[in-house]
Amino acid sequence: MYELDYVEVYDLVMRSRGKDYENEAAEAGRLIRERNPEASSLLDAACGTGLHLRFLVDLFERAEGLDLSSDMLAHAGKTIPGIPLHTGNMCDFELKARFHAITCMFAIPHLRSGQELKKAIRRLAHHLTARGVLLIEPWFRPEEFIPGYVADDTVTQGKRVIHRISHSIPEGKHGDRVRMTVHYADAAPDYGIRHATETVRMSLFTDEQYREAFAAAGCDAELVQPEHFPRGVWIAQRRQ
Ligand SMILES: C[S@@+](CC[C@H](N)C(=O)[O-])C[C@H]1O[C@@H](n2cnc3c(N)ncnc32)[C@H](O)[C@@H]1O
Repeated sequence: MYELDYVEVYDLVMRSRGKDYENEAAEAGRLIRERNPEASSLLDAACGTGLHLRFLVDLFERAEGLDLSSDMLAHAGKTIPGIPLHTGNMCDFELKARFHAITCMFAIPHLRSGQELKKAIRRLAHHLTARGVLLIEPWFRPEEFIPGYVADDTVTQGKRVIHRISHSIPEGKHGDRVRMTVHYADAAPDYGIRHATETVRMSLFTDEQYREAFAAAGCDAELVQPEHFPRGVWIAQRRQ
């Protein structure tokens, strides 16, 4: 049975989208230092394959990554060797270290409920030093989601071509969950065309849910609209 290497394909698709990871990381660094000028340590939570972390390592004296998936971290470890990478769930992880800043980008909709959002923000804030800064990139609000949304990506890597299409529909009673079905066709001269599918479930959170979660975690938070994050970023600071 053909098993697509989802981690490799995630990394290839994201790189092919022309997402400007370097400037996103630089902007995150700027926003953090505006609030905590001496910040020298950072944890990138849900760092995935390290697409931001490979730039954040140049901006902070100490940079580390955390992710639920050890496969994602193994890939990150190959591109940015020598960086501490921790396998853990942002809802319940415990590290000895504390950080001046924690980022969580392009990952928050993977939390399954408002309860999990609260737990994750509390856990992340727990790992900050006093006046430490938490930067979270939100996803769509419930009213912004377009039912039936179709996305497509084509990646060309030498003679190999990968096509990824996805279709997303609302799920659940409250209109705050999304089921995304993803189909992949992966073609190369030596193995022909291979197919794979996956289903990804995500959550849509309201601004109020974020505000409540930050307040419960002892943080002052605001949603700002910097240049490189189209949906804005929540920037929160631990009170003490
Ligand atoms: C779409 S990827 C984003 C990765 C990276 N931040 C980026 O911008 O490329 C989402 C990542 O979140 C991770 N993830 C999902 N739920 C998580 C959780 N509860 N705790 C830690 N990581 C989680 C996944 O394993 C995946 O690597």
